[in-house]
Amino acid sequence: MCGIVGYVGERDATRIVFDGLKRLEYRGYDSAGLAVLSDGRLEVRRSVGKLAELERVLDREPPRGTVGIGHTRWATHGKPSEVNAHPHLDCRGDIVVIHNGIVENYVELRQRLRDQGHVFRSETDTEVIVHLVEAFAADGASLDEAARRALRELRGNHAIVLMSLREPDRLVAARLGNAGGVTIGLGEGETFVASDLTAILDHTRTMAFLDDREMAIVTRDGFRCVGLDGTPVDKSTTVVSWDPVAAAKGGYKHFMLKEIYEQPRAVSDTIRGRVNQGPASVRFEGVPWTDAAWRRFRRVLIVGCGTAWHAGLIAKFMLEDLARVPVEVDYADEFRYRNPLADAETLFVAVTQSGETVDVLVSMAEARQRGAKVLAVVNAIGSQAARAADGVIYTHAGPEIGVASTKAFTAHLTALYLLALKLGQARETLSNDQLNQAIQRLLELPHRMGDVLSRDQGYEDLANRYAKCRDFLFLGRGINYPIALEGALKLKEISYIHAEGYPAGEMKHGPIALIDEEMPVVAIAVRDHVYEKTLNNVAQVKSRGGVLIGLGNDGDDTLAAISDHLLNVPETSEHLTPLLTALPLQLLAYYLADRRGCDVDQPRNLAKSVTVE
Ligand code: F6R
Repeated sequence: MCGIVGYVGERDATRIVFDGLKRLEYRGYDSAGLAVLSDGRLEVRRSVGKLAELERVLDREPPRGTVGIGHTRWATHGKPSEVNAHPHLDCRGDIVVIHNGIVENYVELRQRLRDQGHVFRSETDTEVIVHLVEAFAADGASLDEAARRALRELRGNHAIVLMSLREPDRLVAARLGNAGGVTIGLGEGETFVASDLTAILDHTRTMAFLDDREMAIVTRDGFRCVGLDGTPVDKSTTVVSWDPVAAAKGGYKHFMLKEIYEQPRAVSDTIRGRVNQGPASVRFEGVPWTDAAWRRFRRVLIVGCGTAWHAGLIAKFMLEDLARVPVEVDYADEFRYRNPLADAETLFVAVTQSGETVDVLVSMAEARQRGAKVLAVVNAIGSQAARAADGVIYTHAGPEIGVASTKAFTAHLTALYLLALKLGQARETLSNDQLNQAIQRLLELPHRMGDVLSRDQGYEDLANRYAKCRDFLFLGRGINYPIALEGALKLKEISYIHAEGYPAGEMKHGPIALIDEEMPVVAIAVRDHVYEKTLNNVAQVKSRGGVLIGLGNDGDDTLAAISDHLLNVPETSEHLTPLLTALPLQLLAYYLADRRGCDVDQPRNLAKSVTVE
């Protein structure tokens, strides 16, 4: 949610920190700020709104220095305003803090600090942190010692970076719980700190990731890690292969459009190196279980949020059909509160692009506590979910910048399909022939996706025609019902048009009352085992005078005859159809949102990784 960047080195800290914040713009924020140590002074600049505002402030009075921190804020306590924007200073202007998370006990801490004479300037919970550090530093403690003592008093989940005039050669960064990551990047004579590695990928690929209740003392020569109890922690570093170029727009109008077109590549990268044909097999480099261990699972629990939850719903069809194992799918935000049944024979699968969604992390801990084995399907390398799991299947979608998830979704579906094949192989529900055939279909899929994306299916005409509609209904059945949900979610989050997804067969039980010429109905009706039933459901839209946008397979004249507009995809195996049907719906949502003049990459009120419960 909030973005954090820090720098210690020899170069211009203002530029490096600001550029890092720009890389995090996609995460969503409402204000921003930056502090630089400059000739024995702490220079702080803050502004409300987009980073362009902060840039104007920096251009007027550029702080000069080689140590700095910066922050983009997504308001939780206190409205978006300059005074509430981070960084926050202590009373004397000697110490400065940026923070991601919520100080749950800030009311009592603020009262205590006020009673001691501290003066608060903002309405934020964050400001208590810097006054607490100030209080502990008053008796001569070093910045890291004062920070350790202060952090032990905070309740909640936090990512924090501090800087002080008294120790101008360093930053202190800490992580408590799951409020987003704290990544340390190592360069030559310079060190970086960031909430998200994309902020510093331009400068280094050598990264270390802080775990819960760890603190790093960061200088230009590297960093030292300690636990909050003061014990030294030996931290290893990882070389990240993500390409910074992949995080640039590359000629597309929006990141979202670029990422939609990257899907064939994302899917083939997710498959690469994981399948064998002939004697067919599937393997995952990050999962330590033998076939016997895979066989021991008697049920699968999948959790995720939003789009990742939709991927989970589709995986249920894949896993139950191919591996004949019972699957339940939960919203991660609900799982923890329903007294779930899970035990040592349960495979718990957390699906999360960012790997930092707090609801997912909390449900992983809950499942683990009940004895389940935890597998994370995750895109972000080194993220908390990846590190907290017993096994990881990384998707290789690359950095996803558009807030609305597209390539991460199809990469998730690919990884989950591979999981279904792996379990099917281990449980012997798939013969070698079946497995070979399934792998063949999967290998052909990126080509088919490319074919769908290269077609001109009149999206802009559709957008011109329907941009003023207030509501859309999306229908699908079976494995394409979650695609109806996903189509509706994509549309509502980026275009602000109200949209609902429904199982096509359910329409007659209520939503049919809504049908009129004002509300387009998008119906997914590919030639699967429920095709005819779906067609019958969809025909009811037309016979009630509705507007129908059909989404079917190539050459489907029956669907064409009842549709006002037709979108087509080629055929593939039923389990893989969602990877094709998702694409026209992403493009439809994109062109509608763009036609309405919406900020496609940064829709209002949304953030890329949701680190509050
Ligand atoms: C929708 C979208 C969100 C995310 C959800 C989970 O386009 O992006 O619904 O899917 O917030 O995020 P992750 O996958 O990071 O856990």
